[in-house]
Amino acid sequence: MLNRLVENSLFRPTVTIVLFARVLASYALYGLFVIRFTKDRKKRRQRMARVNAKNALRVYNAFVLLKGVYIKVGQFLSTQVFLPPEFLREMVRMQDRVPRASAEAVRERIRQEFGKPAEALFTTFDEDPLATASIGQVHRVTMLDGRDAVIKVKYPGIDAKFHADLKLLKRMVPIFITIIERIYHGETTNIDHKATIGEFVKYIGLELDYRNEVENHKKMYAIMKDRDDVIVPELYLDYCTDAIICMEYIDSYGMREFFESDEIPYEEKNRMYRITADTLLYQVSRYGFFQADTHPGNFLVKKDEDGYKLVMIDFGCAKQLPNEFRTGLLKSVQGYFNRDPEFSARAFWDMGFRTKQHTLESLTKWAEFVFEVVDQVIKLFESGDSIVRYIQKNMFELGEKAMELNTDDRIDYIPEEYIMFGRALSTPPIPFDQFQPTVDLKAIVLPHLMYLGQPQATIDIEAA
Ligand SMILES: Nc1ncnc2c1ncn2[C@@H]1O[C@H](COP(=O)(O)OP(=O)(O)O)[C@@H](O)[C@H]1O
Ligand SMILES: [Mg+2]
Repeated sequence: MLNRLVENSLFRPTVTIVLFARVLASYALYGLFVIRFTKDRKKRRQRMARVNAKNALRVYNAFVLLKGVYIKVGQFLSTQVFLPPEFLREMVRMQDRVPRASAEAVRERIRQEFGKPAEALFTTFDEDPLATASIGQVHRVTMLDGRDAVIKVKYPGIDAKFHADLKLLKRMVPIFITIIERIYHGETTNIDHKATIGEFVKYIGLELDYRNEVENHKKMYAIMKDRDDVIVPELYLDYCTDAIICMEYIDSYGMREFFESDEIPYEEKNRMYRITADTLLYQVSRYGFFQADTHPGNFLVKKDEDGYKLVMIDFGCAKQLPNEFRTGLLKSVQGYFNRDPEFSARAFWDMGFRTKQHTLESLTKWAEFVFEVVDQVIKLFESGDSIVRYIQKNMFELGEKAMELNTDDRIDYIPEEYIMFGRALSTPPIPFDQFQPTVDLKAIVLPHLMYLGQPQATIDIEAA
């Protein structure tokens, strides 16, 4: 009964709108009354925590009810360590609440796609999914020639539901943000929320397109082919369709499993962190092409004769940046290394960032703020002190500092190209709540600046 109701085309938007309205109303009340009338900071913080906890539960209940896109949004939110802990706690629960299609439904899908039953295509087909996610699920199979493989099979009927939900979110989220802006700042920015949310929605929508994912996968395979510390599984293209992706099976650890394990030496974990960070930087700095969905579920670790290797999977969400944007990012990093905030601000400016003041000086204040935060992060990675603990302890102060800056020098325009990069940047592929590496971040980043003087490398799919 409830299931049928959830599938109803009117029910879904109603739940979403009611959810938005309730969350909004509670924050509006907080903004209007608590911020204005409660001067005691400790009390303010307690009140905020209570509002957060209530809203987090509201969001969780609604998301789990609606599934689909909402699971995806929840999983993304679950990696956002700067979110209030009350929110994170609820969102992390979302990771094991994903739907699962029956073995019959998967078999039916295989028959539709290939015109043959699973038995005619594979010598074995494991009915128990290896993993379930928001769009499809992964099953192990053995190819007719004996190769171990997996197939990722899209859930039946997911496209229409996904698109309808996305359409609604695309309309509502910008309104939601504009109202929040008005409450907290008394005015709105020129940030085009429709465009920025539109960019998000566009890329989430693209994840439904398995052909697009296969194209991205081929590119990443080509990029990583020469690296001996990274594996991108080989695709079995004859077995890829609009709704199925077939590739080499990699016997490996999950990211969480690897970093949690007591058997793996600490130094190996640090090394894996260095490989992961280096790999992500390498894609951006050399090719301007990167995987944007960088949560821990999209990476694995394989133990080989010559050590542990990083396995990259799931290229549903990847983006090609224009060359000017790639160099802009590298220049802003160069400015950091040269302790030259104005240089970095100029790079931000050239990428299209603007503040309300519309001046370089004003943007330079942001560069200075970013430098300060980065200095702090580098120190934490040097000492091995938990970054998550640090953020949770100092979030309020950091937030207030950013808010202060965000009055006269408010960021007024964010370029669309930045959105997906920001998404990747804010989603750490390793679970910092489980493991804090002790590494020299500067030493990881610095070598990539050499790509600044080089033209954007082209990706040769044919050669791979
Ligand atoms: N080639 C593979 N070898 C081994 N396990 C895999 C492979 N591809 C996917 N998996 C498993 O399936 C999970 C989901 O795969 P993923 O491609 O991320 O699907 P989704 O797009 O639905 O998120 C992974 O976290 C991993 O555990
Ligand atoms: Mg995934």
